[in-house]
Amino acid sequence: MLICPSVLACDFTDLKYQVEEITKYADWLHYDVMDGHFVPNISFGPAILKDIKKISDLFMDVHLMVSDPEYYAKVFYDAGADLITFHLEALKGEDEALNLIRKIQLMGIKAGISIRPKTDVRLLDNILKEVDLVLVMSVEPGFGGQSFIESSLDKLDYLSNYKKDYGLSYIIEIDGGVSDKNAKAIIEHGGEALVAGSYVFKGNIKENIERLRNI
Ligand code: DX5
Ligand code: ZN
Repeated sequence: MLICPSVLACDFTDLKYQVEEITKYADWLHYDVMDGHFVPNISFGPAILKDIKKISDLFMDVHLMVSDPEYYAKVFYDAGADLITFHLEALKGEDEALNLIRKIQLMGIKAGISIRPKTDVRLLDNILKEVDLVLVMSVEPGFGGQSFIESSLDKLDYLSNYKKDYGLSYIIEIDGGVSDKNAKAIIEHGGEALVAGSYVFKGNIKENIERLRNI
């Protein structure tokens, strides 16, 4: 299991301490980029990622919720991303998605694809053999602190069966409303990387991460 705290839920008056804590106890740092266009919220850009990298050697898992992922993939590669995940819905179809996956991989980092809760997971079929990670959104992207959408577990089933059936190696990540209440079910249904924002940053970061890890 990979625990990936989303710094969107940080207390930004105390960013340094919180990044140091997750660097000690978590596996990846999940960095949610929102452009106010693909989603109705704005988060943060590349400058903050560059600063975070000065104090953390965590694997930087960048989730682009932007209308122009092709442009921003390069921007966040330059800022130090180790993995860039973009949304299928931001592009015109699977050919564009496959091109962007190749472009990101040619930069020498990992490429992920994500879908909104209402998007049919089968639209990913022709992409799954090329991609390094699939991010299932278990809330409508845009805001932290929402409730987990239970039907996301069906998408995890589909992706883990597909992965086994075709001998593929993509990582299955889930993002939104993840907590100690649903982590067990997520793992049982094939989730491998768990993004958690509010759950990790509310209260004691170390204890929250350990509770998730020991589920
Ligand atoms: C939502 C983001 C998530 C979110 C997770 O658009 O992609 O990463 O911040 O936050 P919680 O865990 O609070 O749902
Ligand atoms: Zn995210």
